[in-house]
Amino acid sequence: MIIAIDGPSGAGKSTVAKAVAKKLGFSCLDTGAMYRAVAWRALADGVALDDAEALGAIAREKEISFGHVAGDPVPKRVFIDGTEVTDAIRTADIDKAVSPVSAAKPVREALVAQQQRIGNAGDYVVEGRDIGTVVFPEAEVKVFLTASDEERAHRRVRQNVDRGVGSIDYDEVLADLKRRDEHDSSRETSPLRPADDAVHIDSTESYIEDVIERICEMASSKANR
Ligand code: DC
Repeated sequence: MIIAIDGPSGAGKSTVAKAVAKKLGFSCLDTGAMYRAVAWRALADGVALDDAEALGAIAREKEISFGHVAGDPVPKRVFIDGTEVTDAIRTADIDKAVSPVSAAKPVREALVAQQQRIGNAGDYVVEGRDIGTVVFPEAEVKVFLTASDEERAHRRVRQNVDRGVGSIDYDEVLADLKRRDEHDSSRETSPLRPADDAVHIDSTESYIEDVIERICEMASSKANR
């Protein structure tokens, strides 16, 4: 079974996806981390962010993999070509670079193919922007998770404080979220939009535990059919 969770950044997708995967015993795939890893590699190699072909070559040729922290069933460590980039892909520089990288068609083609290969190997919760529309249009459960801009910015600041990476300036984080939303929604290839059959959940006023519970219930009712 595939549970697709799409939505803008900071809506709580990662927290929700990981918790749902843990509860159901599913694997979990963070597709944003894959775009971030390609952006990291492009910056490290001095590849121009408007060179779609060179960016595509990174996505095709450099292996992206995930690893576990001991005792945690959800893979939270990210590697590209054997180098661990778990924290390095969460910096403000990557937040900026990842928009043009994720808009490059050759990058999307390569990463979507990898995501489909990974997800088809088992039961997965897959989170991103185009999972229910492009990567797994046949997903059994599709959720479009949103929250207000202000709530999303607060959450991202708290997350950055906890991780010790990324900006902790609320106004800067809010401006960056809005810029990325605009970019993700208006790009030509796979813009951020809900699948027609996605269930919309606004997490602004809800307890995250309730959101997690609701998605688990949606999955069990599909499994029992
Ligand atoms: O979820 P995130 O913030 O880590 O995603 C990083 C960037 O990658 C974000 O700007 C949107 C893009 N992205 C995408 O275009 N498609 C996906 N499936 C996942 C992320």
